Amino acid sequence: MADALKVGIAGLGTVGAAVVRLLSKHGGQIATKTGRAVTVTAVSARDRTRDRGIDVSAFEWFTDPVEMARTADIDIFVELIGGDNGPAEESVRAALSRGIHVVTANKALLARHGVELAVLAEANNACLNYEAAVAGGIPIVKTLRESMASNEISRIYGILNGTCNYILTRMEAEGISFQDCLSDAQRLGYAEADPTFDIEGNDTAHKLAILTSLAFGTEISSDDIYVEGITSITTADIQAADELGFRIKLLGVAQRTDTGIEQRVHPTMVPKSSAIARIDGVLNAVAVDGDFVGEIVLVGPGAGGNATASSVVADLTDIARGDETPVLGMPAAELNSYQRARMRLHEGGYYIRLSVYDRPGAFAEIARCMGEAGISLESIVQKRHANKDVPVKFDADMPQPVILITYETTEVAIKEALDVIMSKGVVSEQPQMIRIEKLN
Ligand SMILES: NC(=O)c1ccc[n+]([C@@H]2O[C@H](COP(=O)([O-])OP(=O)(O)OC[C@H]3O[C@@H](n4cnc5c(N)ncnc54)[C@H](OP(=O)(O)O)[C@@H]3O)[C@@H](O)[C@H]2O)c1
Repeated sequence: MADALKVGIAGLGTVGAAVVRLLSKHGGQIATKTGRAVTVTAVSARDRTRDRGIDVSAFEWFTDPVEMARTADIDIFVELIGGDNGPAEESVRAALSRGIHVVTANKALLARHGVELAVLAEANNACLNYEAAVAGGIPIVKTLRESMASNEISRIYGILNGTCNYILTRMEAEGISFQDCLSDAQRLGYAEADPTFDIEGNDTAHKLAILTSLAFGTEISSDDIYVEGITSITTADIQAADELGFRIKLLGVAQRTDTGIEQRVHPTMVPKSSAIARIDGVLNAVAVDGDFVGEIVLVGPGAGGNATASSVVADLTDIARGDETPVLGMPAAELNSYQRARMRLHEGGYYIRLSVYDRPGAFAEIARCMGEAGISLESIVQKRHANKDVPVKFDADMPQPVILITYETTEVAIKEALDVIMSKGVVSEQPQMIRIEKLN
């Protein structure tokens, strides 16, 4: 058997501690399968005294991960600290510069510096593997870098944030508000104390930026993503979606169009019959449309120590076998620059919820505004505020919800039509608009 691979792990939190446990439990089978033992020899975290549920006494301890990356006698540096700068970035650069392979779960770092780090890795003949950075335990990076390398991909989309999916699933199942679901998710540990990054869609955007590069062979461009979170979704939207045959999911979508590549993160109406509609709770899913294989969908846990450690160790296993895949699926110099498709040119169907004053002519005005913007309506549903105990009484000042579903149109047409409707004084508040994704 070849010499053991010496691993240094920086970050011994949720994921780092799980990686140590996994290697200690399944080290034997990894050595048998790869022909090489994978052995932790050094670790780094801030607090040496903290009980992590693992025995670190046999490992060389570094309080400074950058020092570990610069000086430790290791073959692989595993970065599990997090953050797109500071010690995570500095230590990864230091390790790669020494020609030490790097494994990381850090989507923020890759979304911001992925191409530079790929160049640095290539220049130093080092691997940079990051399966755990996108969708936790789901092997989507390997699928794109290796299994689907021969396909031309037209679209990749997915549920990439378990917190958002948990909230939307519970809002639908129990009819409770966004805020109540969020508080519950925080209490149960499914949402951070500061959940902004998740619920505003930024976490999904980081993962999407990496997937876009892998799927389309472009440089990573995380600043060119249209991002909208789930905070405006109401139980009224979820109920209306249900009645119309849809479910609402926060999707990250990257799609090839005639004018470039669209990258967008937003709440999305997906047909109930689609595979993605059936992904509930904290699960993640990624769907890829390839020209030869067709559509594949991968489903699994997107977070959690053990699931994420499974992906981190998969990356270590590849290195132990001697598999060296280009960081972004091809040599960095071959990546195309990212050509952004303007969101205003996005084409699709739309769900619109309006609060319409119950006045004569209001409906006709709305239909006229849509018609003048060239938008055809598939359906209009007026949903009276129902209270069984009170007889229906018309009140011109009491707005009533009206749901419109449009046929395929453009984002710019919808935005212009809604601006005109607002200016006519027939609605009481900013319209709700949710994009419909065309899926099989
Ligand atoms: N948790 C998940 O489910 C999950 C899923 C996918 C990807 N990830 C990614 O995995 C990475 C780690 O996540 P995590 O949840 O394991 O984080 P975590 O529990 O917060 O652990 C972070 C670790 O980094 C150490 N650390 C933080 N700042 C440091 C510094 N300045 N110098 C030295 N050590 C420092 C901490 O040390 P102390 O313990 O001493 O404080 C801790 O051990 C992140 O990039 C995250 O995005 C996590």
